[in-house]
Amino acid sequence: MSQIHFVGAGQMAEAIIRAAQKRGAVSASQITLADIDDGRIATLRDRYQLTSALNDSEALAAADYIVIGVRPQDDIDGVARHICQYASPQATVISIIAGVTLERLGAQFGTTRPIVRTIPNTLTDTGFGYSGVVFNAHVKPEPLMPFLESFGKVMLLEERLIDIFTGFAVAGVNYVYYFIESLTDAGVLSGLSRPQASKVVWENLIGGVEMLKTSGLHPRQLMDINNSPAGVGINGLYELNNSDFAAGLQRSVMTAVRRTTELSGSKPA
Ligand SMILES: NC(=O)c1ccc[n+]([C@@H]2O[C@H](COP(=O)([O-])OP(=O)(O)OC[C@H]3O[C@@H](n4cnc5c(N)ncnc54)[C@H](OP(=O)(O)O)[C@@H]3O)[C@@H](O)[C@H]2O)c1
Repeated sequence: MSQIHFVGAGQMAEAIIRAAQKRGAVSASQITLADIDDGRIATLRDRYQLTSALNDSEALAAADYIVIGVRPQDDIDGVARHICQYASPQATVISIIAGVTLERLGAQFGTTRPIVRTIPNTLTDTGFGYSGVVFNAHVKPEPLMPFLESFGKVMLLEERLIDIFTGFAVAGVNYVYYFIESLTDAGVLSGLSRPQASKVVWENLIGGVEMLKTSGLHPRQLMDINNSPAGVGINGLYELNNSDFAAGLQRSVMTAVRRTTELSGSKPA
């Protein structure tokens, strides 16, 4: 049984714990926590019925995996010094901190230590969505995968792509929520009730994804099938073509990617 220690028991750490427990990747006795806020530890211990009685240094010494869930602006150097004092050099560090590179993590946690850099998405409760994952040369992926896959599908990336992944994939569900809201409003504007419009939008969204999956066709091919000459659909699409829809969406993604690279201090790929 692997022991998993979380340093920084915030929102993302909790989301990972909840998903990993739900999917059976870890049990309550395998999880230990550290946070500067003792109240937060008590809350999560209670909420997830965590049973380990190890104190902080014992938990670090026993840990096979140490998840670093603090924020980029927190004292990562101090966290690393504390961890290195008690943890086994073989314990794998799993950093979820946006923008902190493997090189920097290696300098802080040890250049021969197995280190994983991952950016989880916020769909952890659903089983959908990708986490971007990068391993350093010392990681043995196989025993780690069930844990990583318990809170998202795993997309292994070259590290140069991880900031792009953060801006595009992790921020990406925003566009889906925004699209659903805008399209539902369009139904209401046309005269449907909000519940009627909402049902139609959800069903079209899920059905559209299913059509793409089952047919294997490109979206443009499905649009061709959906639109007869001079018909209703192509007239509607003409208005969308005249709008800023595609370019606006693409500018928004590029801006999110640019902001990620600004925050991490890296250069865009
Ligand atoms: N949220 C997302 O969508 C998302 C997605 C991918 C990656 N991430 C990354 O996940 C990390 C955590 O984000 P979050 O949203 O979970 O933030 P959060 O809720 O603020 O969690 C961070 C936690 O770490 C604690 N902490 C700060 N310094 C500490 C220290 N020295 N030792 C122990 N605990 C410490 C904080 O306590 P205090 O609040 O008392 O300071 C807080 O409980 C960030 O690095 C972020 O880049 C987030």
